[in-house]
Amino acid sequence: MSATQTVPTPSANPLGYQTFAIGRFQFERDEYFAHIHYPGTQHIMPVDAFLRALMRDVGWGFFYGTVNFDNVFGTVNHYGTVEMFIGLFNDAYRLTNRHFVETFQSADLRKVFEAMLDDWTNEGFDPYAAPGETGLAYGAKHGNNTAALKRQRMVAERMVGLPGDLGYRTDAGGYPINRQFTDVPQDAPEVHAEPGFEGQVHAFNMFAYVSRSDVTWNPSVVSCVFDSQFCATTEEHALPIMHGNDRVEWFIQATDEIIWDVDDGKTGRPRAKVTMKAGDVAAMPADIRHKGYSPKRSMLIVWENNDAGLPAMYGKGELKPYPVEF
Ligand code: PHB
Ligand code: FE
Repeated sequence: MSATQTVPTPSANPLGYQTFAIGRFQFERDEYFAHIHYPGTQHIMPVDAFLRALMRDVGWGFFYGTVNFDNVFGTVNHYGTVEMFIGLFNDAYRLTNRHFVETFQSADLRKVFEAMLDDWTNEGFDPYAAPGETGLAYGAKHGNNTAALKRQRMVAERMVGLPGDLGYRTDAGGYPINRQFTDVPQDAPEVHAEPGFEGQVHAFNMFAYVSRSDVTWNPSVVSCVFDSQFCATTEEHALPIMHGNDRVEWFIQATDEIIWDVDDGKTGRPRAKVTMKAGDVAAMPADIRHKGYSPKRSMLIVWENNDAGLPAMYGKGELKPYPVEF
């Protein structure tokens, strides 16, 4: 753990943005870019890409394994502590010993990331929205969008659609069908419950439900059985991170098409291109990283194994990085 302090500097820069520091990292933003200073030099990223990645890292509690903001900068989740790095999974940085890593308590880094995300997000820019559905991130500081950053997933109190649940709202007061999902049938299944079971048996149209999602690249748990987590998500444009998994993860392409770049998780060397069309199923190995591209908004099911023992088993080679031997 780093002994250094979490220090948002009190004064803003001339553009109105706070500078943030933790450990030996310092983060600054200008009209177009995020600047990440670290011992050595600085790394630079377009600020919209930086904020979209930061939103996921904050929203997902550092996620499974590695969240690469780009080829250079990112975080590794050790579930309690988190490593923040420059060039750790980049061959060129590693081979020339230019990488830099620091470990933090997850709660400390989360605090800095949350404050930075809030301060650097201007009015009108929503980092969870598809680029075609949001305003721009650029310019001097103007307003904020805290409401969008803090949005909570709707939590089903019980199976969606049953009396008492708040989640399933296809009525006029609920979420509208997304502009790119107007082709998704909205019919509901017929349910004929035995007398006495009317309030306990239900079925609903999952496609209709997901067609109303107002965010992109944000898996939400839709069923959870022990460590099996089924997560539906709607994808448009590009996954804002390159995810380096620490376990096998399954994808089920429910509609439309996503093209995946799959690279080696440690070096970043390209390994595969995977085009997934509606109905395709893929297992993403535990030793890769990936970034998806969805030219039209699509529906994806991400199936995760939440077993906390898995990263160590893959790390020690007790499990093969892929789930099936053909
Ligand atoms: C992934 O990294 O596997 C991932 C993340 C977010 C998504 C889909 C896939 O929306
Ligand atoms: Fe992933």
